[in-house]
This record gives sequence, structure tokens and C-alpha cells, in this order.
Amino acid sequence: MKVLVVGGGGREHALIRKIKESPKVNEIACCPGNGGISYDATCYPVSATDIDGVVNLAKEIKADFVVVAPDDPLVAGMVDALNDAGFATFGPKANAAIIEGSKVFSKDLMLKYNIPTAEYKVFDNAEDVIDYIREKNEFPTVIKADGLALGKGVIIPESLEEAEAGVREIMEDKIFGESGNHVVVEEFLTGPEVSVLAFTDGKCVKPMVSSMDHKRALDGDKGLNTGGMGTVSPNPYYTDEIAKECMDTIFMPTIEAMNKEGRTFKGCLYFGLMITKKGPKVIEYNCRFGDPETQVVLPRLKTDIMEIFEAINNETLSDLDIEWSDDACTCVVMASGGYPKSYPKGLEITGLTNGQADGVIVYHAGTAIEDNKLVTSGGRVLGVTALGNTIEDALKKSYEAVDKINFQNKHYRKDIGQKALNALKK
Ligand code: AMP
Ligand code: GLY
Repeated sequence: MKVLVVGGGGREHALIRKIKESPKVNEIACCPGNGGISYDATCYPVSATDIDGVVNLAKEIKADFVVVAPDDPLVAGMVDALNDAGFATFGPKANAAIIEGSKVFSKDLMLKYNIPTAEYKVFDNAEDVIDYIREKNEFPTVIKADGLALGKGVIIPESLEEAEAGVREIMEDKIFGESGNHVVVEEFLTGPEVSVLAFTDGKCVKPMVSSMDHKRALDGDKGLNTGGMGTVSPNPYYTDEIAKECMDTIFMPTIEAMNKEGRTFKGCLYFGLMITKKGPKVIEYNCRFGDPETQVVLPRLKTDIMEIFEAINNETLSDLDIEWSDDACTCVVMASGGYPKSYPKGLEITGLTNGQADGVIVYHAGTAIEDNKLVTSGGRVLGVTALGNTIEDALKKSYEAVDKINFQNKHYRKDIGQKALNALKK
């Protein structure tokens, strides 16, 4: 098979490495890809959001299967267009991807089908939101832009002034464009967070192994929200008991709810969960693999990923046994100093070719090749991933590898996995 992967970050690199293991696959293409991905796949300079461009590329290279990884093309209907053109695909259609594309949709869905989540209210103008928050006078509170916002559409103000400033930016200055036409204000929940990615063909749901993201830029969960600075799998807070409860109260009910709405979801559904004192609740749904969750989940997958993708496409997932290794896996993101705000690009990366220890995989997120040199080209540059017998063991390998890799102003968190290790000690 010739497989085309749409996207160009660390998640896509992890997908490509796993697809490469499949005996069914003899060629992998990627658009747009990145410097590191170009060692594993033929990269084409077509933007991941260019629907016509991707359909034409799939035709041109005669792709047998297309995997659409990022949220924006899924929400915009890239899978629909590829299917209309006759391609087999992995990823939800637009009418199902809305589960990530609109927070108002997903909150209303959870309310209608009794799926546990934070209490909320929807607004369509800034004055009403501010009045509501002033009257309620409970802080912190949580304000979410309705639409996609590069993972930055959530603010958690500690005061009315902060809330007002945030709401005006989203709804009046439109810093996220149309995504800010509506906002959801919700109850602030507390408890450990767990990411669960799940394969589903719309009939059954097969959760993958759990993981924990580290979203803030700085150690101790300080600093700005980022796309994710590191991950560990498994997530020790996700016990067998919690997993069962999630299956009964969240995973299956969500799949069934989407079917009842005529929006069957096929692909990877990401459940962002919080384990509250009143049980697990949904913080967010994503219509795709998480980044950098994929980087610690897929290395543990033992089953041929193309077999899974084909089973989902053919709606025969329930016949397939999916196997996982008992290893722990950790990913430390090396970012450009300045990320998630502004940062320079084009800085040479050294130390990658010295060879990594056993079980270490360096996924490329924002790299390019210029004049035969590997250079930085994004905020998140590398996901330094390691497998080990325990989280502690894997972390040691990840950090040893991080130490050997250099570029000017490299920034990474030194405390990835500490929360998981502390939970294990309890
Ligand atoms: P999201 O982009 O929806 O994942 O939100 C970003 C982060 O904001 C989450 O990972 C949580 O840490 C936090 N968050 C979102 N919603 C809530 C909530 N209702 N209560 C507490 N924290 C939240
Ligand atoms: N790491 C969180 C996300 O992919 O949205």
C-alpha cells in the first residue's frame, strides 16, 4: 500500500514511524511533513489545510489510503472530500469532527445525553458574559471560545478584571476570529487530568493506553498554555476501575450519542478527562490523535496500525484484538526558547546523529533541512521519546537523550512525569 499522511508535526512523525512497521505498507508520503519526517516519508509541499491540494496530491501519487491527522482539515471536511474522490481514509467526517470544532456542540451533546462534564452556559455577546461572571462571582472560572483556536481558546481567570479582558479579546477583538462568536463559561473542576485516545468505527470503541500531558510551558505547571510540553504513558491516575467507569459513563455513551445525532464518528476520538471527587468528567473532546500524546501511546502499540485503520474504515473494528506492550513511555518536548510566544527559526540542531540509546526515538515536530543541515522551524522542535520498564526508567532515557541534543536557546521542562511518579509513590 501507499499511504499518505496529512500533517507535519511530532504526532504525524509518530504515526508515520508506526505505519512504517506495517508489512502492508511499501511507501509513505506526507504533506507537508517536516525535516525529520523526510527521512521516513516522501514529503510534498501541500498545506495540511488545502483540501483540493490534498485530494489532487492523493490522485497524483495514487494513494491507497489517506490518514488526516490535524483538527482543522478534519473540521473543514477533508475526509468527506477524499471519500467523495474514492479514497479510503482514517479520520472523522466534518459532521462528526464538530465534536472538537464547536465547544457549544460538544457541551450540548453531553448535556442532552447525560455524559458527565462541567456545568456551563453559552453566550453570544461580551456584555452578557461579563454580567454573568460578575453576578456569579466565583473564581477561578473557565471561559472557552466555541471554535478551534490552536489550543489557546481556554482561559481560566482568577478575577473579574482578567475575565473581562479575556472575553473582550475573544468576542470583540476576535483574536481567534469566528471561533469567538460564542463562548462557553463553565464551572472550574479540580482533579488529575488523563488523556485517553480511542479507536472507534462508530460501532465499538477501543480505548488506547492512557497518557498524561503537561500543557504549561514551565516547570511546576507555570507559564503559558502550550500545545503540550511532554507526556507519559500510562497515566497512574487511570486505574482499571476508572477505566471501566469511563467506558460505561463516557466512551460508549459518546459514540452512541453521535450515532443518534446522525454524526457517526470514525477515527480517533480523544477524551480529555478530569478525575474529580465525583468521578471522571469530560474536559474536552478532540476529533484526532493528541500531540504529544500520540508520541507515547503509539510506541506501545503492538498490533499493525494499518489493520486497525482498515478495520475502522470497513466498520469491523469489533473483530480485531488490539495489543499493547506493558512498557512505560515518556516524551520530553524540546522547544524553541520563547515558545509559545515568538521565537527564532533556522537554528542548527546538533547531537542527533550520535545515535540514541536503545528504546529512544526522537520525533520531529518543527525541523527543516536547509543547506544539508537540520534546523529548527517551529515552536515545538523535537519530541524525545523513550520506552522503559517503568516511567522512571523511560524518563531517565528521555532526559539523557535530551542532554545530547543542542540548539541555541533550547527550552524543555525538567519535570515531565514528576506528577505521575508522585502519584505512584502514594
Ligand atoms: P482544553 O483546551 O479544553 O484542553 O483546556 C485547556 C486546559 O484548561 C485543560 O487541559 C485543563 O487543564 C483546563 N481546563 C479546561 N476546562 C476546565 C474546567 N472546566 N475546569 C478546570 N480546568 C479546566
Ligand atoms: N495535547 C493536547 C492536544 O493534542 O490537544
